[in-house]
Amino acid sequence: MPGDKSISHRAAMLAALANGVSRIRNYANSGDCAATLSCLRQLGVQIESTGDELAINGGGLGAFREPAGELDCGNSGTTMRLLAGILAAQNFVSTLTGDVSLNSRPMERIVEPLAMMGAIISSHDGHAPLEVSGATLQGIDYELLVPSAQVKSSILLAGLHAHGKTKVIEDQPTRDHTERLLRHFGLAVESGVEGATKRSITVTGPTQLRACEFSIPGDISSAAYFIAAAALLPGSSLQIDDVGLNPTRSLFVKELQQLGLNVETFDVHEAANEPVGNISVRATDSHLEGNAQWTIRGLAIPQLIDELPLLAIIGSQVGGIEVREANELRLKESDRIAATVSNLREMGARVEEFDDGFRVFGPVKLRGTKIDPRGDHRIAMAFTVAGLLADGETEISDSECVAVSFPEFFELLESVVQNRSI
Ligand code: S3P
Repeated sequence: MPGDKSISHRAAMLAALANGVSRIRNYANSGDCAATLSCLRQLGVQIESTGDELAINGGGLGAFREPAGELDCGNSGTTMRLLAGILAAQNFVSTLTGDVSLNSRPMERIVEPLAMMGAIISSHDGHAPLEVSGATLQGIDYELLVPSAQVKSSILLAGLHAHGKTKVIEDQPTRDHTERLLRHFGLAVESGVEGATKRSITVTGPTQLRACEFSIPGDISSAAYFIAAAALLPGSSLQIDDVGLNPTRSLFVKELQQLGLNVETFDVHEAANEPVGNISVRATDSHLEGNAQWTIRGLAIPQLIDELPLLAIIGSQVGGIEVREANELRLKESDRIAATVSNLREMGARVEEFDDGFRVFGPVKLRGTKIDPRGDHRIAMAFTVAGLLADGETEISDSECVAVSFPEFFELLESVVQNRSI
């Protein structure tokens, strides 16, 4: 699998903030992660790419230079939200912008906490382009209003530059790659428990990071499409090596195991402070009834956030699935609730739509049709899997949109799929 997208963004940004040359292997080759590199280059960071390795020469926290033009984050929310935290503390003005989808996504969620730290950021009614005027920041205690790893990370990155302690409190655990990677770059990050259910992460600034070397694990969110296809297409078996198995990201595997699908992880070890291992999948021979009560809500939502459209398709092949409390899905690269519901209906599934999720009835034999992924890579990939399961031909319009996370998706899938053409 290509390198994990979330870890790649963070690796590049932390390497740029560290002192010295960091060497990073298996950096994601996605459009989103290329946008992060291009913004960092515009900020004066030297990045060399040789074969599978990036060498990023970091000059410390204050070494960025004022960019000549706007910083284009493309389709990437992670690039924009995390960079905003870093830029808020630089001694120059910069502008973060993106494509139509990104410029319509909510940015108030980072502008508000960063402003509490002293940042000066102007937005367009809570949306990008964001004009960030560098300022001196102070540490804060902040409880996340939305369960978002991007918001948490933006505040922690600002906290590296701020004076004093910056504490982020979350009551629903979100992916913890920033905390893990900060530790790998030599920072003493404090983890705490707040009350009965909340947890906190604290950094003390201003601080320094130590350059380091590591390899980025394969992206489990990209592997998920292959796992689902192999688990559901009769006669299949597949092994995927060196995939990130961080517990805040791998609930997808556990959900499939609970459904009775043959998905196993093995040879799990730690690399660069992240669990990594191999995954084997075998299609079940027996008829799958699934669990008629299969419901995903609450704490599970942030852990499965990128896999929910794919889970809807899996649900349609077993006893159905209900996803609730997932309002955040409407604020992704597209409104993923609407995109999932309408495309699954087009394929013949019975689906109910709610403000905060959907219910898919199953099992149903899907039928091939024309799919509009609404420019959203995860919708295009999830419905490609649906297309493999369906009778007849499925046509995904604007299928190039997969490049923002997984440019070689169709090629790689074609190389492992038999008896079907892609
Ligand atoms: C990401 C966090 C999630 C996820 C996105 C990547 C990250 O977004 O959907 O694909 O790298 O931190 P939110 O923080 O908006 O939930």
